[in-house]
Amino acid sequence: SEKWALMVTGRTPTNIAVIKYWGKRDETLILPINDSISVTLDPDHLCTTTTVSVSPSFDQDRMWLNGKEISLSVGEFQSCLREIRSRATDFEDKKKGIKITKDDWQKLHLHIASYNNFPTAAGLASSAAGLACLVFSLAKLMNVKEDYGQLSAIARQGSGSACRSLYGGFVKWIMGKEGDGSDSIAVQLADENHWDELVIIIAVVSARQKETSSTSGMRDTVETSLLIQHRAPKRIIQMEDAIKNRDFPSFARLACADSNQFHAVCLDTYPPIFYMNDTSHRIISCVEKWNRAEGTPQVAYTFDAGPNAVLVARNRKTAALLLQRLLFHFPPQSDTNLDSYVIGDKTILQ
Ligand code: PMV
Repeated sequence: SEKWALMVTGRTPTNIAVIKYWGKRDETLILPINDSISVTLDPDHLCTTTTVSVSPSFDQDRMWLNGKEISLSVGEFQSCLREIRSRATDFEDKKKGIKITKDDWQKLHLHIASYNNFPTAAGLASSAAGLACLVFSLAKLMNVKEDYGQLSAIARQGSGSACRSLYGGFVKWIMGKEGDGSDSIAVQLADENHWDELVIIIAVVSARQKETSSTSGMRDTVETSLLIQHRAPKRIIQMEDAIKNRDFPSFARLACADSNQFHAVCLDTYPPIFYMNDTSHRIISCVEKWNRAEGTPQVAYTFDAGPNAVLVARNRKTAALLLQRLLFHFPPQSDTNLDSYVIGDKTILQ
C-alpha cells in the first residue's frame, strides 16, 4: 500500500466557567438550558496537545489518551468525527504527490494521540480542552473551511464546555433557540489581553476522579431540582458588563454567587450531588472573610464539578498575598496543591 502519513498537532487550553452551564435541553446534540461565560487559561499550564494523522496504511480509527489506547466508539467522539468528516474538502500536496478528495476522507482511517498536562476528569475541565483540541486538529487535517464559531458547535457535541475552549480570553456560549443546535455556539467577549492583570490560582484540593459525572448530574438536576428554574439569566448581562468594564468587584460578586448557586442546585438535586468538600468550604470562608475585611472584593472563587478551587485575584500583588494566605491555612502536608495561571490564548496549531 501507499507509504505516506499526514499529521497535524494542535494545542488547546482548558476553560473555567464564571457563569456555569448546568442542564441540557437536548442530550444528543448537547444543547444547554442557559448561556454560560468562561475564562480560557494559559495554555502553557493546563492544556491538551493532540496529534491527528491519516494514512492509507491505517486499517481503523484509533485513539490514545496520555499514552493509553482508549475506545473511540463512545457517542461524543463519534459525533465529532462524523461532523468533521462530512465537512472535509479536497487536499493536495503536489510536492509530496499526495491527493485526498472529499470522498477519500470518508474512507481513510485516523490515528489520534492526545495528552493532558494536568489531571484528567478531576473537575478541571479536561474534557473541554480535549474535545476542542480534537475538533480543531481534525478540522485542520481534513481541510475543513468552517470558522471558529462553526467549529465550536461541533466541539459542543463532544463536551458542552468544549465549545468555549476554541477562543482565548473571555468567552460566552450562547444557548441558542434552534432545535438543530446551529445557533448554540461560542463567541469571544474579549481577548486574552483585555484584562491581563487578573491572575488565576487553582488549588487542587483533590486530583481524584469525580464521583458524579456532569452528564448524569445534569440529567438528575433537570428532572428533580426545583431551584434550577431560579437560576438568573440576568447574571449573564451583568457579567458581560463587568468584563467589558474590567469591574473586579462586580466580576467577583457575580462569579462567587453563580458558583454558590450552582452547588446549591446540585444539593437540591435528587439524589443530592456533593462536589465540594470541607476544604472547599474552608477556602470559601477564607476568601469571604478577606474580601469583607478589605471592604471590596480582592479575590473571586469558583468551583466546577469537583472540590478544586479556582481563585481569581484582581492583580499580581493580591495573587502573591493569596498564595501566602492559602499556604498558611492549607499547609503542604494537607492535600491542597497550589498553582497559578494567567488568562490564556486561543487554540493554535503547534
Ligand atoms: O461540558 P461538561 O459536560 O464537562 O460540563 C461542565 C459543567 C461545569 O464545568 C460544571 C460548568 C461549566 O460551564 O463548565
